[in-house]
Amino acid sequence: MTVEPAATRNSGAEEVRTDRLVLRRPDQDDLDAIFALHNDPEACEHNPSDMLETREDAELLLELWSHQWNRYGFGYWVVRRHDVPDPLGVCGVKLVGFGRHPVLNLFYRFFPSSWGSGYASEAAATAVDWARVHRPDDLVIARVRPGNLASQRVAVRAGLARTEHLDTPGDDGIDWIYVSDRSYEG
Ligand SMILES: CC(C)(COP(=O)(O)OP(=O)(O)OC[C@H]1O[C@@H](n2cnc3c(N)ncnc32)[C@H](O)[C@@H]1OP(=O)(O)O)[C@@H](O)C(=O)NCCC(=O)NCCS
Repeated sequence: MTVEPAATRNSGAEEVRTDRLVLRRPDQDDLDAIFALHNDPEACEHNPSDMLETREDAELLLELWSHQWNRYGFGYWVVRRHDVPDPLGVCGVKLVGFGRHPVLNLFYRFFPSSWGSGYASEAAATAVDWARVHRPDDLVIARVRPGNLASQRVAVRAGLARTEHLDTPGDDGIDWIYVSDRSYEG
């Protein structure tokens, strides 16, 4: 029997504000930004399998993300600065299977023009904090390619630690696995 993870309702997940950022549930108005971000070779350099070729692909991706939101009450956010309407990128947690268990996958991808200002670290730490409060029984993981130093820094800054024995082949080669609980055995 498969046990479905419970939905999280009324958690305030649809919009979260940090010192500099607004993180909110994506909608149709974000389609151009989601496509541009995933059609940018620099933003997908370490995960080329995430590249999207057409706007229709972006529509499908947004549909998947929206399905997760509708079903569980949380998911990936679009991130922007308080004072600028244009998205900086995407970050959040989403339920995925990992080994025999459902876990929360921490994801972040930002437009290269925004890199180096600490936005990804601020957003990722917010996502992990949100998960600790609202999904305390779920492990948070980040899958990071060995050469993606910036992403490794973001995972650590968000409170995750690399756990070598969980390293797993992913869509683009081996992924290093960062987790919120180092005692997790898999
Ligand atoms: C990973 C990513 C989100 C980081 O975004 P960012 O806004 O530049 O991150 P931050 O400004 O918060 O910087 C995080 C850390 O990475 C370091 N860093 C940034 N670029 C780096 C690089 N090319 N090499 C090494 N370290 C780097 C920063 O100095 C900072 O380090 P610190 O914690 O010691 O201060 C961004 O590079 C990105 O979107 N990459 C493409 C998508 C991606 O690879 N996502 C991860 C998939 S697993």
